Amino acid sequence: MSRVLFLALVLIPSPGPAGEVSDGQLLFRLRCSLCHGETADDGSAGDLRGLPSAVIRRAVRGFEAMPKIPLAENELAAILDWLGAAE
Ligand code: HEC
Repeated sequence: MSRVLFLALVLIPSPGPAGEVSDGQLLFRLRCSLCHGETADDGSAGDLRGLPSAVIRRAVRGFEAMPKIPLAENELAAILDWLGAAE
């Protein structure tokens, strides 16, 4: 069952240009939603939307109770974009 759900998430078409990692929402679901919720606002760390990008960048390198999440720069940029990160 969870395997089917995982496949369904992976197969959701990306609205971005073909072949480019541009779907921050999909990346967030795959890499962050386990702990922060599908909409980024119902995890233990509270609402992640609109946080300063420096705070999000620091968190993905590993921050206190949060483990390091390895991400390529373009993946992180797509996630920051989707979260509406402030400069
Ligand atoms: C294994 C669980 C887990 C995953 C996966 C995870 N986080 Fe976290 N995250 C946490 C926890 C727990 C905290 C709270 C850290 C603390 O305050 O001790 C946190 C905190 C944060 C914070 C707030 C940091 C602050 O300074 O307040 C941000 C931003 C964040 N995470 C972003 C992300 C992003 C983006 C991803 C995906 C790339 C992600 N997290 C994936 C567990 C996770």
